[in-house]
Amino acid sequence: MLKCDPVTAVDEMQRLPFLTSTIVLFVFALTDATHARELRKVDIDGVPRTYALHMPKRVASGMPLVVVLHGKGGDGGTDLENLGWQDKAEREGFIVAAPNALSSYDGVEPRRDLTIRDRLRRTVRDWRGQNLAQWDGGANDQALIAAIVDEAARQYAIDRSSVYAAGFSRGAFMAQVLAQKMADRFVAVAVISPNMEPAPSTPSRPVSFLLLNGDGDPVFPLGARPKYILDLWRTYNGCPAPSDSHPAPPGMKIEAMGPCRDGTVVEYVVMAGVGHEWPVGKPFALRPSMQSITLDVIVQVIFGVETSARRDELRRHILAVTGLGRNPLVLFATRDRRLGSHAPWARFIRARDALHAALVSEIRQRRDAPDLEQRGDVLSQLLLARDDEGRAMTDDEVRDELVTLLFAGHETTATSLAWAFDLLLHHPRALSSLVAELDGGASEYLDATIMETLRVRPVVALVDRHVRQAVGIGRHTIPAGAIACPNIYLVQRRADLYQDPAAFRPDRFVGQTPPAFGWFPFGGGIRRCLGASFATFEMRIVIPEVLRAVTLRPVSRRPARVRREAVTFVPHDGARCVVTARSQPTARPSKTP
Ligand code: HEM
Repeated sequence: MLKCDPVTAVDEMQRLPFLTSTIVLFVFALTDATHARELRKVDIDGVPRTYALHMPKRVASGMPLVVVLHGKGGDGGTDLENLGWQDKAEREGFIVAAPNALSSYDGVEPRRDLTIRDRLRRTVRDWRGQNLAQWDGGANDQALIAAIVDEAARQYAIDRSSVYAAGFSRGAFMAQVLAQKMADRFVAVAVISPNMEPAPSTPSRPVSFLLLNGDGDPVFPLGARPKYILDLWRTYNGCPAPSDSHPAPPGMKIEAMGPCRDGTVVEYVVMAGVGHEWPVGKPFALRPSMQSITLDVIVQVIFGVETSARRDELRRHILAVTGLGRNPLVLFATRDRRLGSHAPWARFIRARDALHAALVSEIRQRRDAPDLEQRGDVLSQLLLARDDEGRAMTDDEVRDELVTLLFAGHETTATSLAWAFDLLLHHPRALSSLVAELDGGASEYLDATIMETLRVRPVVALVDRHVRQAVGIGRHTIPAGAIACPNIYLVQRRADLYQDPAAFRPDRFVGQTPPAFGWFPFGGGIRRCLGASFATFEMRIVIPEVLRAVTLRPVSRRPARVRREAVTFVPHDGARCVVTARSQPTARPSKTP
C-alpha cells in the first residue's frame, strides 16, 4: 500500500521527459467508478491458476496490455478495482490483467495435516521468486504470466510491442524477474516499493525500467536497496552516466537515464513519505511483521549485506523449516517411511536438508571470498576463527553454528516484540508514558518496558539442565542424572518477588534492577542466551520506530492469551491490532535510542 497520493504524483510524471508513451500505463488512479471484470482460469503444469482481466468497453486490435502484479497477501482482482486500473484502462484504452499468486495452501502443496484455522492463516498469496518452477511443488508463476500474455495476443490481437508489467512490493520483485527472464514479452516494467532484490540475470534484450520508491519505509527498514537495483538495470541496458537533475513535482526527486541501448530508459523516482505500510483501519497480526523484520536483521548480520540474492533464498529455506517446525505433529517425529513422503516429519527433513545444502554452499563460497578478512559479518568471523591448535571449523561445524543463530535469533525476538506491543496497547497509561519519554529523547522507560515484557511474557518458559552431580536446592536433593528445569515463567511471577506479579507494570523496573535470580528470560549460567544483548538492542530500535510511524489500537479488549508453539509462548492471535493513524516520517525525524 502506498502512503502518498500516488495518482497525482505519478500523473505529474507524464509531463517528464521519460517513458512518456508508457508511463501513463503505470498510473494508479483512484476514482469512484468500477467496471465489471472477469476472473479467468488457466491450467499451468496441472496447477489451476486464476487471473483477473479487464477489457475496455471498446476493445480494438493492437491495444497495449498491462500485467499488474499484486504484493504479498494481495490479489489481482482487488488491485484492479481498488487501485483504479479499470478506470485507467477505459480512459487510456488498454487491456489489464492481474494474475493471482498462489498461497502456500493453494492446491500446490496438500496440507492435510493442518487445522482449518491454520489453513486459513496460510492463505497469504506470494510470488515464487527466482526458481519459479522449482518452488513449492511447482508453482510456475512465469509460465502463468506467459500464458496470460499469449492468450491476450491470440484473443485480442494486442500490440506485442506494448506489453508492460507493473508490480508493488513482492509484485515489484516479480515484475523484475519477468523483465529479466521474459524480456521477449515485456518492453517496460514499473516497480513500486520493491521489497526484495532480484538476482543478477541479464535479460535477453534491454527493457525500460522505472523504479518508484518512497523515502518513508518505517516498517521495512531493511527492504530492497534501490541503488543496487538501479545499477543492475543500468548495466543491463547499457545506459550513459546518470544526469544530475530533472524537473520534478513537489515531494518527488527524479533521476533519469537514457537513451540507453535500443532506446530504453531507466528512471528512479523517489516520493516523500511513501513506503510499505500496514493497512489503516484493518485488523492485522503484528507478529508476522515482527518476524519479517527480525529475520531480515539476523540474516544480514550473519551473512552481511552483499549476498542479497542468495539471502532471499536462505530466508525462504529458513521460513520453510520454521513453518514446519511449528506443526505439533513434528513432535511425533518418526522415520517410519510407511507414513509417506507427505508426513510432517518427512517434509521437515526435506526442508532441513535443503536449508543445510544452501548454507553449506554459502559457506564454501565465502571461504573463497577475497575480502574474507575485511568482512565483519558473523559467517566470515566463524570462518576465520581458529582453535588453540590453529584449526579452523569444518563446513558442518560452521553450518551448525549458523543454524543455531538463525533459529535462536529471530523468532524469539519477534515474539517478544509482538508481546511488547500487545501489552502496551492494552495498557494505555504505560503506552503514553513510553511515547512521552521517546518524544523527549530518553529511553529509561523503554528499557523498563522491555524488561517487564520479558518478565510477564517470557517467550521461552523454561530451561533445562542435566544434573551431573547430586545437588541440594532448598529442601530438595536433585540426584545426578536428573533433568532440572528452572521455570522462567513461574519464577518471574512469584508474589514474593514481584508485587501484583501478573500485572504489566513497566514502572517496577524504572531505576530498579530485577531481583537476583528472579528475572532470567534469557536463561542463565554458562549456557545463558548468547544473543541477549543483541535481542534487547533490536527491541530498543524496533519499538520506538513502530510507535513513531503509526498509532495502533488493539483489536480485542483483553491482551492476547498465551499459546504454546513448539518451545515458545506466543500471543494466541499473533497480537492483532489496527493502525488508526500514521505519522509523516519526513515531519518527524527518526530518533534511535
Ligand atoms: C528476546 C529474544 C530472546 C530470548 C527470550 C532468548 C532466550 C533464550 C533462552 C531462554 C536460551 C536458553 C538459555 C539457557 O539454557 O540458560 C537461549 C539460548 C540461546 N540463544 Fe537466545 N533468546 C533470544 C534471542 C536470541 C538472539 C537474537 C540470538 C542470536 C543472535 C540468540 C542466540 C542464542 C543462542 C546461540 C543460545 C544457546 C546458548 C548456549 O547453549 O550456549 N538468542 N536463548
